[in-house]
Amino acid sequence: MPDRAKVTLEGVPETLLWNLHQRATEARRPDAVLHDPKAVELVDALDYPFADRFGAAGLGQWQALRARCFDDEVRRFLGEHPDGQVVALGEGLETQFWRVDNGSVRWLTVDLPETIELRARLLPDDPPRRRTLAGSALDEEWTRHADPTDGLLLSAQGLLMYFEPDQVHRLLAMCAERFPGATMVFDGVPPWFSRRTVEGRMKNAQGYQAPPMPWAVDAAEKDRIRAIPNIAELRDLRPPRGRGPWHGALFPLLNHLRPIRELGVTGLPVMAVRFAPSEQEHRRR
Ligand SMILES: C[S@@+](CC[C@H](N)C(=O)[O-])C[C@H]1O[C@@H](n2cnc3c(N)ncnc32)[C@H](O)[C@@H]1O
Repeated sequence: MPDRAKVTLEGVPETLLWNLHQRATEARRPDAVLHDPKAVELVDALDYPFADRFGAAGLGQWQALRARCFDDEVRRFLGEHPDGQVVALGEGLETQFWRVDNGSVRWLTVDLPETIELRARLLPDDPPRRRTLAGSALDEEWTRHADPTDGLLLSAQGLLMYFEPDQVHRLLAMCAERFPGATMVFDGVPPWFSRRTVEGRMKNAQGYQAPPMPWAVDAAEKDRIRAIPNIAELRDLRPPRGRGPWHGALFPLLNHLRPIRELGVTGLPVMAVRFAPSEQEHRRR
């Protein structure tokens, strides 16, 4: 067996391994709700103590359904813009490209340098369709590499909760101003969950402590987002139906109720915002 890639990530970048662990554990099941052989391949290629750090991945299905919620939005976008570009902010070792590739989508991954260094070793770029950029989502540099010509979808899965609220608002305002007519899909955590991480009360049985997640979403925060200039619409997305009595029956039912959805127990809140079209585009429609 070839040498496995040693991982030395800490802090927020290390959280990508939690997501990958959950997703791959689900994907290994014969009745998996997510087909993701690439995630399994990655876990097998990494030298990292997944189980010692994160335990037995009891949230595999929960995480996989969150990923599918994002996949559905990307597929919807590609249905309308088959040659469009997806810019995945804070993508970590997400393997979404391989789940949704239609043969023509262009994909740009933006993540911090230490994460990109690891991703590049395992999932090297395949230009011109699949490229990575090392840098912060909060800096404007990546916006120069985004190309809205054939349609643009921005995604930020498992990222914005690690930012301060004003950083999230500034990022959304920057995207709304630069990419008229585009959509951005992202998730958040509810206030009770955010509080626990900030107070350092999010430790698992193995002693792993999740980093602080200062940005929380509730109805009031959604109104603040709607009030950002050039944000035309914010819509809640619902995770698809899963397996078993919880994810297969009860949660999909409860998820029809907005206040319950916002509690984040039946799945973390996932949302899509649409940016107002430019004057020119507006006249064309
Ligand atoms: C919880 S992981 C999510 C990874 C992936 N999106 C997923 O859902 O599996 C958080 C990711 O955000 C990245 N990250 C943290 N701060 C960032 C920043 N300022 N700009 C871009 N990426 C960032 C980390 O390196 C990591 O890959």
